[in-house]
Amino acid sequence: MNLLDVLKNEQNQMMPESYKYLSMEEMEARVVEIKEKMGKSLFIPGHHYQKDEVIKFADSTGDSLQLAQVSAKNKEAKYIVFCGVHFMAETADILTTEDQIVILPDMRAGCSMADMANMEQTEKCWDVLMERFGDTILPLTYVNSTAAIKAFVGKNGGATVTSSNAKEMVEWAFTQKKRILFLPDQHLGRNTAFDLGVPLDQMAVWNPITNQFEFEGNLDDVKVILWKGHCSVHENFTVNNIKEVRAAKPDMRIIVHPECSREVVALSDDAGSTKYIIDTINNAPTGSKWAIGTEMNLVKRIIDQHPDKEIISLNQNMCPCLTMNRIDLPHLLWTLENVEKGLTTNQIKVDEQTSKDAILALERMLQH
Ligand code: 13P
Ligand code: SF4
Repeated sequence: MNLLDVLKNEQNQMMPESYKYLSMEEMEARVVEIKEKMGKSLFIPGHHYQKDEVIKFADSTGDSLQLAQVSAKNKEAKYIVFCGVHFMAETADILTTEDQIVILPDMRAGCSMADMANMEQTEKCWDVLMERFGDTILPLTYVNSTAAIKAFVGKNGGATVTSSNAKEMVEWAFTQKKRILFLPDQHLGRNTAFDLGVPLDQMAVWNPITNQFEFEGNLDDVKVILWKGHCSVHENFTVNNIKEVRAAKPDMRIIVHPECSREVVALSDDAGSTKYIIDTINNAPTGSKWAIGTEMNLVKRIIDQHPDKEIISLNQNMCPCLTMNRIDLPHLLWTLENVEKGLTTNQIKVDEQTSKDAILALERMLQH
């Protein structure tokens, strides 16, 4: 389901105004109390891009892959209050049992990239690809996609990927078919295929709005078809940002998320998932200097945790991911108070057939 459909659903509830007037201390004390009371029947996974006020209450933090893994493993929690965005909560629902309830504290926490590929566009694209290339294409979807897209990919023999296993999964895909369709993030697709040795002139962009290829070469040579989607946060890191950092601090290393453009990744020193970025800085020597190109809540947290290193955001004017930021302490508390009363507000429930097909794509990834 994309964000618009979510917002149109009248069953989704909004947090009462009164929560906005509680003090941080009051809210924190209540969250601690409810967590203690509910014990293992409550599980709170938190993505690295969540605000500090929320992440401090997470039972498990991680990148998209880790959060999918911990959700799949947890069999004891009745309630999984997912602090992340909608597609992550959908993935958790698909990977958990029928009687586990996955809740997103604010239904407006979508992901603009995931909404850049819908089923109608994908089916149209697939028809054109089948006609043009025959049965030579395996679809891969970044987990930042709706459950319906994961189901489509699963039904067609493909798999999901995250930023931490994209290389492995693209390598695997090429053992299955001659070509891949990578959706919805053109940048992760391009960066990954390029690292695996696919030349840029063998990658065509598919524009789902015009329903056409954006490609100047010979289509017969194409190995990777990149869906024209992107992350509206990571597209704000530019080649100019890199030039500025290089000019001001030549000994500063630059590390970015692979949702950044090819040009930005190529000029950086390193690129990887949120977990990879965190691990790299954790393992870096005292006194080292870093410019980080990813979401601001995470960059700020890394800066706070490493006073012994000089760390900046690659783009000094960056904002946090606005949809990740929808989950705040008032929403977390409101959700937990409902759970405590046995009420399930804002449950994420993927329908049975979609789940059945999507799990094929997710399991192909989790088995690697
Ligand atoms: P990670 O899997 O690297 O945590 O990335 C998730 C995401 O949404 C990045 O924008
Ligand atoms: Fe989606 Fe980008 Fe936000 Fe990640 S940072 S959740 S890809 S909009």
